[in-house]
Amino acid sequence: MRFPKHILSSRQFLDVKLLESIFQEARELEQMSKNGSLPPLFQGKLLASVFYEPSTRTRFSFESAMLRLGGQVITAESASANSSATKGETLEDSIKIISGYADLIVLRHPETGAAKRASLASEVPVINAGDGAGEHPTQSILDAYTIQNELGEINGLKIGFLGDLKNGHSLLQLLSAYPGVTLTFIAPKPLQLPESCRKFLREKKVRFEETESLNKVIGKLNVLYATRVQKERFDDPKDYNAVKGSYTVNEDLLRRMKQQVIIMHPLPRIDEIALAVDNDTRAAYFRQAKNGLYVRMALLRRALGL
Ligand code: CP
Repeated sequence: MRFPKHILSSRQFLDVKLLESIFQEARELEQMSKNGSLPPLFQGKLLASVFYEPSTRTRFSFESAMLRLGGQVITAESASANSSATKGETLEDSIKIISGYADLIVLRHPETGAAKRASLASEVPVINAGDGAGEHPTQSILDAYTIQNELGEINGLKIGFLGDLKNGHSLLQLLSAYPGVTLTFIAPKPLQLPESCRKFLREKKVRFEETESLNKVIGKLNVLYATRVQKERFDDPKDYNAVKGSYTVNEDLLRRMKQQVIIMHPLPRIDEIALAVDNDTRAAYFRQAKNGLYVRMALLRRALGL
């Protein structure tokens, strides 16, 4: 499978060989970073980091990846408030202009499909850094890299997704590249998986089950992937209040988990994981966030055609 011009969806990466080659490159870059021997691969290249929604990990890791490899960055960290969007400029016009200034655009936007629209207006590659309740493909690739690094393999694992399964489905789509996985979705009714995702998994012949009870399944999982209930995606605060805090990963739950389990979370967390869990070796979420730097270095390199 060829590396796509624009990184818009996890579905562009349903190829284990392609993923493995990205993981291998990320590992090498991590090693070079630890040795202080990162080469100036991106010298002369300019990244435009355009964020219409807040971000800590995604924006800083992309910008850090670019700068650490010798490139440069122009950034709009609050593009919805501090760009000509406030004057009514369309996303397409903004992207068309920015793509004349930069070699690559990393875009976060609240509207599903915004990255695709941007790619159609852009002269340079666009990377989707989250388009609302749509996709966050680079997050899913760094998630898969983390599972591989922590547990040595992905195929054959039992992976549980906990919390808000209504908003954000990139990783479960990416995992369909690994036919031996079994997915367990644990969510209260209003946050359960959309039918379109069930249909996708059935088409890909991925084994999956759904439950509201974490207690019933916790003992058999290899990976517990907790997610934040995304308050910003609710139209009515009452609906958010009805489901917030539905599950908390705490010390009691840790006692009932296997020893060879990892706990993941894309972060930021609110109350899904108790602070006491951070000291347990099974808590992989801070390592996961760090992995974003190396995976994004590898993705930037390919997107820039280097
Ligand atoms: N995981 C993630 O996308 O985090 P940010 O919103 O901080 O970028």
